[in-house]
Amino acid sequence: MPDDVNATHVADYSGSEQLIARAKEFAPGGVHTAIRNIDPSLCFQRADGAYIYDMDGNRYIDYHAAFGPFVLGHCYPSVTERVREAIGHSDLFGVGATEGEVELAEKVVKHVPSAEKVLFCNAGSEATYHAIRVARAATGRKLIIKFQGCYHGWHGYVLRNMLSPEDKIGQRDPGSEGMLDEEIDSTLVCTFNDLEEVQQTVDDHRGEIAAIILEPIPHNIGCILPKQSFLEGLRKLCDDEGMLLIFDEVITGFRHDLGGYQKISGVIPDLTTMGKAMANGFPMAALAGSADVMDNFNTNPSGKVFFAGTYNGHAGSVAAALATIEELETGKVHEHIFRLGDRMRNGLENILERLDLIGTVSGFGSVYTLYFTDGPVENYTDLMRNNAESYVQYRQNLLEHGVFEMPMNLKRNHISYSHTEQDIDHSLEAAEASLKKLYKR
Ligand SMILES: Cc1ncc(COP(=O)(O)O)c(C=O)c1O
Repeated sequence: MPDDVNATHVADYSGSEQLIARAKEFAPGGVHTAIRNIDPSLCFQRADGAYIYDMDGNRYIDYHAAFGPFVLGHCYPSVTERVREAIGHSDLFGVGATEGEVELAEKVVKHVPSAEKVLFCNAGSEATYHAIRVARAATGRKLIIKFQGCYHGWHGYVLRNMLSPEDKIGQRDPGSEGMLDEEIDSTLVCTFNDLEEVQQTVDDHRGEIAAIILEPIPHNIGCILPKQSFLEGLRKLCDDEGMLLIFDEVITGFRHDLGGYQKISGVIPDLTTMGKAMANGFPMAALAGSADVMDNFNTNPSGKVFFAGTYNGHAGSVAAALATIEELETGKVHEHIFRLGDRMRNGLENILERLDLIGTVSGFGSVYTLYFTDGPVENYTDLMRNNAESYVQYRQNLLEHGVFEMPMNLKRNHISYSHTEQDIDHSLEAAEASLKKLYKR
């Protein structure tokens, strides 16, 4: 990272380019998750705390955080040591329970208000899949409601109306070919923060809707803050209409509070999905909820809803989650990342004001983003005013100053316990230089 923020970062990406070219010979597009291909086509080889290093040795302050798991920072010593210790003497038995699983389940139940019982799996997509299936079984109903712009994983129950083009907002917008019409059409789409529209949708399908699923803060489109009355209204509507409320806390869980955003808002869902920050980068996810709903799973002898996974409760992931949660339990992590989040957001607002630019800084706790539009931003439709080209170009400019915010439209940024005030201040200087370059000031 150059000390002089105006100095251009070593813009040699030849090592990354060579690797991605080789990767493309063996994997479609060379990457193993959609949208890992970016411009410039960077590949990384080393990570340490707040920093990642590309194939050419360029160092970046990392705010992408691999889409969010790193709440402590990369290769965090207490996590990697705990994992090393665990996998030195065990791995996977595929039978019975392990002490680690029990300890972790106790912690989830203790911290997450909606969690009376919990089941572990490996990815957020699995958790949301199980949540919806058990909601259908428990209510005997077929339909679910999701919100435009929210992402809940790659499976057919929820893969529609994510980053929709303007003319498809709220319309039929499946996220993939190969989906069944029935799964697409069994998911209804509403506007976030618009309780009246949800009420109308429920009225139109009375007695048919099993569940409402939402990201309590839709971080998959940056950071749209929920109106408290919206969350409370959803809770009441679900109670009145016999539907289950599912909070997808795969991003907000553990990162914003040990008890997730439900703890902060006081709105308690029936089911909660968790992942990402739960194990600081190791594959771990969870589904939790009230005992009467969770006991429908056939891990319970009388349960009728199938639940399985060869790698569920792997010793390495369980150890990572326990070590991460223990760090969060000290209270120091949230104090630090919230303080740095405020520093970043205030700093960005100051820059906009000083340079007399239009923009909206949004965020919560350790998450922030800078939209290239004026406010207010309350739902996905409002984000159609965001200038996508400027958003991406600004993030490409940041790379030259050793700051990595995913250079794609509507991506949020994450601060970890490993980031320092100096990292934030350097990033703010980089932001100012990048905005000046963008607007030719
Ligand atoms: C809110 C939310 N739910 C679910 C998922 C799916 O999680 P995974 O990628 O671990 O399957 C994601 C992934 O980004 C997410 O952001």
